Amino acid sequence: MTDALDLSSFRSRAAQRGRPGYWDFPEVQIKWAFEAGLPDPRTFPIDDLVRISERVLREDADDALQYGGGAHGSIVYGWEGLRDRLAERTRRVDGREVDRRGVLLTSGGVQGISLFCQAFLDEGDAVAVELPTWEAVVGSVQRLGAEPIAVPVDGDGLRVDLLEKQIEALRAAGRRLKFVYTIATFHTPTGVCLSLERRRRLLELARQWDFLVLEDNVYGELRYSGETLPTLFALDTSERVVKIDSFSKTVAPALRLGWVTGHPDAIAALSAVRGDLGVSQWVARVAETFLTEGLYEPHLDKIRAVYRDKRDVALAALEQHCAGSLHWNVPDGGYFLWCTLADGIDGREVMKRAFAEGVVCRPGERFCGDPEPAKSYFRLAFTMVPHEAIEPGIAVLGRAIAASTRS
Ligand SMILES: Cc1ncc(COP(=O)(O)O)c(C=O)c1O
Repeated sequence: MTDALDLSSFRSRAAQRGRPGYWDFPEVQIKWAFEAGLPDPRTFPIDDLVRISERVLREDADDALQYGGGAHGSIVYGWEGLRDRLAERTRRVDGREVDRRGVLLTSGGVQGISLFCQAFLDEGDAVAVELPTWEAVVGSVQRLGAEPIAVPVDGDGLRVDLLEKQIEALRAAGRRLKFVYTIATFHTPTGVCLSLERRRRLLELARQWDFLVLEDNVYGELRYSGETLPTLFALDTSERVVKIDSFSKTVAPALRLGWVTGHPDAIAALSAVRGDLGVSQWVARVAETFLTEGLYEPHLDKIRAVYRDKRDVALAALEQHCAGSLHWNVPDGGYFLWCTLADGIDGREVMKRAFAEGVVCRPGERFCGDPEPAKSYFRLAFTMVPHEAIEPGIAVLGRAIAASTRS
């Protein structure tokens, strides 16, 4: 085998376009750390998953171990038993009339996003994304030859007033905004929520300017304090919002199980571009049973308590070790603290020093696209690091900041 394989004449235009996915950054070695948005392994409901998996196999293997399709449940939409449970939950939580035709099972939330992009984007289309945002989305948009338009976020989420200006500018140039991608609740990376007023205004704009809204709600259930906000999907009366959810942040990422909820016609558009053979029939039945047995809600309560506690430990440690050189948000939920270094402190230097001591956070540039931001930010995920290790880890970070301040 030769060392290097020259694929340049084979690679598709889509593959050559755009930025790499967020998983393709070889310089980042993920150690035991604050880097990625991973759940605490100690919250995995292992006993229930073992028991239910076995039961599904013993009682339903003929279907659970097949591809979908025909008698085994829809191949592209996914196992209908789970879609029924999720539709039922959406009716209860979001107060919207949804049935299984409005629910598509996906390989995590990320597949829902990429199917949405494939279903609705053409080359040259414009998509509004938050600045900062989850970088995988930028890749999905750019690979299709469409253009992400960055709209800043403040403490109340997406600056809807600036979005309107961007739309007007696009219209003046003869272009149209196809959709807005928003992590409206517990935004990545800042942890903020779009205020109720802005939620309503965004939906008004969607009607006025005729665009769709892709609401990424993968952290939406993880509220630890403050008042619950209705999702955009719950507030929508014009069938413009499609919502992405996932079991990754609440149960386990390795289930690779997410779902998209929306008008049946929007869901049909996504299923039409699907190129795989659906999600695992087995895993979908396990999740269905987890919901049917009434285990999901108490599990959510349990992990909310664990993460609330970890958030508070992390905030106290930041206060103890980083006050003065660092500013951070106090999120009401989600996985992340968004940290801004005081002027004059070089974020790269801090990350390098912290990394040398075994602490990894995700540099802010990764959420900000080009050009790079003037200030130095980083994202600190407080969920996976064991409770007792959070304070020592943040102490290392504090020392790295202090050392970078002097240099
Ligand atoms: C904002 C956001 N959306 C979607 C996802 C997708 O996760 P999954 O595909 O595991 O559901 C992630 C994962 O980190 C995320 O941070």
